[in-house]
Amino acid sequence: MLSIQQVEGDKNSRYEGIFNQAKGLFHDERDWLANMANSASLLYHTLGEVNWVGYYLLKENELVLGPFMGLPACIRIGIGQGVCGTAVKEKRTQRVPDVHAFPGHIACDAATRSEIVIPIQVNGNVLAVLDIDSPQPERFDQMDQQHLESFVQLLTESTDWTHVPTK
Ligand code: SME
Repeated sequence: MLSIQQVEGDKNSRYEGIFNQAKGLFHDERDWLANMANSASLLYHTLGEVNWVGYYLLKENELVLGPFMGLPACIRIGIGQGVCGTAVKEKRTQRVPDVHAFPGHIACDAATRSEIVIPIQVNGNVLAVLDIDSPQPERFDQMDQQHLESFVQLLTESTDWTHVPTK
């Protein structure tokens, strides 16, 4: 059984603790589904003040729900739709301090107040997004964004994306 250690200290120390555990989970494992599933669980249990952590995979021009932790969520999101679809269209992180102020935000859990979505890109192509929701307004600041983008980079480098489904 793999256990998750709670992380403590200031924000940098907490992310360091999360990264070290992610490196342990990804060690000797390059399967895309296993690494997405375990990293969603790790982030869900360690970030704090989050109510949904998961992935959407880009399949034939729409995002389809992938491994996640949290309440059941909407399954398909078009490119350019919602926060996730906007992250794909613009190929960059969307950090939303107040989801009610984001035009077209797709509400999957009514408790969500802020959100961050980071695209996963390999060779310049978006394969998926990491979506994290919080019941706390303005939960994610610039520092969270930098650390979470590094986290996605670690996942990207640790994983073999050859067999990730694109349809
Ligand atoms: N809020 C997202 C939809 C996904 S759920 O939050 C899990 C969006 O607007 O794209």
